Amino acid sequence: MSLNDDPAFWTAAEKHLTRYGGSFEKIIVERAEGSFVHDADGRKILDFTSGQMSAVLGHTHPDVVATVERQTRAVAHLFSGMLSRPVVELAERLAASAPGLDRVQLLTTGAESNEAAIRMAKLVTGGHEVVAFAQSWHGMTGAAASATYSAGRRGYGPATAGSLVIPAPNAYRPRFRQPDGSNDWRTELDDAFELIDRQSTGALAAFIAEPILSSGGILELPEGYLAALKRKCEERGMLLILDEAQTGVGRTGCMYAFQRDGVTPDILTLSKTLGAGLPLAAVLTTTEIEQAAHERGFLFYTTHVSDPLPAAVGVTVLDVVARDGLVDRAIARGERLKSGLLAFQQRFECVGDVRGRGLLLGLEIVVDRQSKAPGYELGAAIAEEAMRRGLSMNIVKLPGMGGVFRLAPPLTVSEAEIDLGLEIMSDAIAAATG
Ligand SMILES: Cc1ncc(COP(=O)(O)O)c(C=O)c1O
Repeated sequence: MSLNDDPAFWTAAEKHLTRYGGSFEKIIVERAEGSFVHDADGRKILDFTSGQMSAVLGHTHPDVVATVERQTRAVAHLFSGMLSRPVVELAERLAASAPGLDRVQLLTTGAESNEAAIRMAKLVTGGHEVVAFAQSWHGMTGAAASATYSAGRRGYGPATAGSLVIPAPNAYRPRFRQPDGSNDWRTELDDAFELIDRQSTGALAAFIAEPILSSGGILELPEGYLAALKRKCEERGMLLILDEAQTGVGRTGCMYAFQRDGVTPDILTLSKTLGAGLPLAAVLTTTEIEQAAHERGFLFYTTHVSDPLPAAVGVTVLDVVARDGLVDRAIARGERLKSGLLAFQQRFECVGDVRGRGLLLGLEIVVDRQSKAPGYELGAAIAEEAMRRGLSMNIVKLPGMGGVFRLAPPLTVSEAEIDLGLEIMSDAIAAATG
């Protein structure tokens, strides 16, 4: 019998755990190291989702472990009005990494960082309307959930008043086309804002966007889009909030994804990757916006704001990313992974599209390439075959889209591990497609 089948464990899990979305993998994870998690049988499973898209340094990175040990002994948590050195150091380091965004608040989760950002935007603009993409994910709490459209809207009562939405550009399934058939995202954006202007009561506060919509199926904002979006915001006196929960801290081959576009948001939120698996988030903004918010009495006071332990971890994450050249590694390893995925597209009819940047890549599974009909079941079968062979990869299933694998190995992933992942994926696709 597999030790993963431990009846006492599963009986207790089934009896006592609240089911919060999806199903649980039928393994018991005992430990994790680098790019692998180890199950109860001692089997190593290659983790191509970096935990929940967060463990950019791999699991149990020795520098992070050392920081947690050291900082836990020194001071882990404080009264929210007290400061410690790791907090100020991390704020200084983050400000230096994102020129123009000099003010930093350190929080705990992605949803929370977006709550703070939206709250600040409302206070500073005097508006309350928040626009987001129809394929977005910004978190499960009030304002963040109101701006989340990829899942979870039904059954929880009204969203925040003033929640508005536009479609995200989709190069694989364009809504507007250029004469050559390519995606005409400018017309789409103009059209969408015409609708926003009709719906708005004149109280637009912010647009919140992911530079690459991850839970929405790895939809990349094309080059030029962010600049055009920023202009739309400026014309209307609303702030642009960029949520780089998944794209921040090097994953896309830039420190932040927005840097490719030469556009600085008014507010930047970081989470997942900043703590590399430990709960840490940050909200960055300009001196002017922070000043205006402060003058209006900005309040976002939480239990774990400015806690020294996660802040110290954040400093270590930035140190390791810089010391080990992980932003460049994301480019190199990402290219290796992407070229393997593009080869699948040649070999397997079910691979409809390959997209993304650096080490945040999407592989879209379709029933056939002509209709682009979503291959949900096939995607699920491939994921199962991959897991059986020792590769964990996450598939996003969204209405109107195919099953999209989100591939985001740690930035520390080796070439051999990329190759192993590709080999398992290839076997899994071959097995699932018979
Ligand atoms: C882009 C983005 N923003 C925010 C969140 C929410 O973060 P958290 O689950 O830490 O609240 C997520 C989580 O998946 C995310 O992908």
